[in-house]
Amino acid sequence: MSEHVSTGTDTMIRLDQVTKQYHGQDRPAVSPLTLEIKNGEFVVFVGPSGCGKTTTLRMINRLVEPTSGEIWINGQNVTHADVNELRRGIGYVIQQIGLLPHLTIADNIGLVPKLLGTPKGERHSRAADLLELVGLDPKVYAGRYPRQLSGGQQQRVGVARALAADPPIMLMDEPFGAVDPIAREKLQVEFLKLQEKIRKTIVFVTHDIDEALRLGDRIAIFDVGSRLAQFDTPLNVLTNPADDFVRDFVGAGASVRRLSLLTIGDVLAGPVGDDDHSIPLHDAVQVTLTSTVHQALELVLAARADGVCVVPDLAAEGSPTELAGSTKFIALQDLLMTASNTPGGRQ
Ligand SMILES: Nc1ncnc2c1ncn2[C@@H]1O[C@H](COP(=O)(O)OP(=O)(O)OP(=O)(O)O)[C@@H](O)[C@H]1O
Ligand SMILES: [Mg+2]
Repeated sequence: MSEHVSTGTDTMIRLDQVTKQYHGQDRPAVSPLTLEIKNGEFVVFVGPSGCGKTTTLRMINRLVEPTSGEIWINGQNVTHADVNELRRGIGYVIQQIGLLPHLTIADNIGLVPKLLGTPKGERHSRAADLLELVGLDPKVYAGRYPRQLSGGQQQRVGVARALAADPPIMLMDEPFGAVDPIAREKLQVEFLKLQEKIRKTIVFVTHDIDEALRLGDRIAIFDVGSRLAQFDTPLNVLTNPADDFVRDFVGAGASVRRLSLLTIGDVLAGPVGDDDHSIPLHDAVQVTLTSTVHQALELVLAARADGVCVVPDLAAEGSPTELAGSTKFIALQDLLMTASNTPGGRQ
């Protein structure tokens, strides 16, 4: 929980005692809210309807002007800065996607660059690159109109359009809200891969706790009136909910959800009782330190194996070197026991 604002140099967005009181409303939509988002961090705002997520998000690019408090972007107080200048550095994806029906996909993506005076040829080649980046073949899609795309494809175009001016910050308000659950999960996975490449500072709104847990480096759980109930890593939210509201919001199944967030590396670094896990098993399936416990269990069940064999994973950065270099065996029972005893705390 980070109620207090530090002045770290890697801070990208800082809301300092920000409030919003809409005209004619008895209660503020956002009551004093302070939070800090790091450069390159993926933060998800989650909470019940009407708790102030959209209002808070829109105060970051001042589509909603705060009633009081300060907004800082990249070390600058932008509370009263020029909004056009501010918004140039902030891509915005809205729930309704908002593609213009009479413009082609390429022209929709090139909308902001056009306003910024980018020449046509450059706009179109940039649009093609961005379509490629979000997994749509520009040869097929650049010349189409929005109605000729599926909902999921339109969502990707919405993301491409927000990236067009290459802003360091992306604000996304329920961007996958209009897509069916299967397409949605696919978009989430693709979007995480995209973020690996582009490393933007992202603030993403959802009311779906599973989406929040899957995507966020940290998630901000809002209660009614924008009370920030907890701002923490998904694993910590599941392991140490700050209060009953968070516990209820996360709901049943927290321990099962943790299995998707804990990696084998976390489990091996956790309180493993004795050294039994280094004894070879008969039917172990291979996993690496970066596999999640959930993935490991799926493999074990599919193969009817009796445990996992943790093989070195050269791609696993920051994992304990003595583990990365050798092979370990964990019996199914030990894996489950250790996973349920491993504390959260991964950043
Ligand atoms: N333009 C407005 N004028 C007056 N009240 C507003 C306005 N926009 C939002 N509100 C109110 O402010 C509160 C917060 O709204 P907000 O849209 O930020 O909620 P939210 O968390 O995004 O909800 P949802 O999950 O339903 O999108 C709500 O009570 C809402 O009715
Ligand atoms: Mg909203």
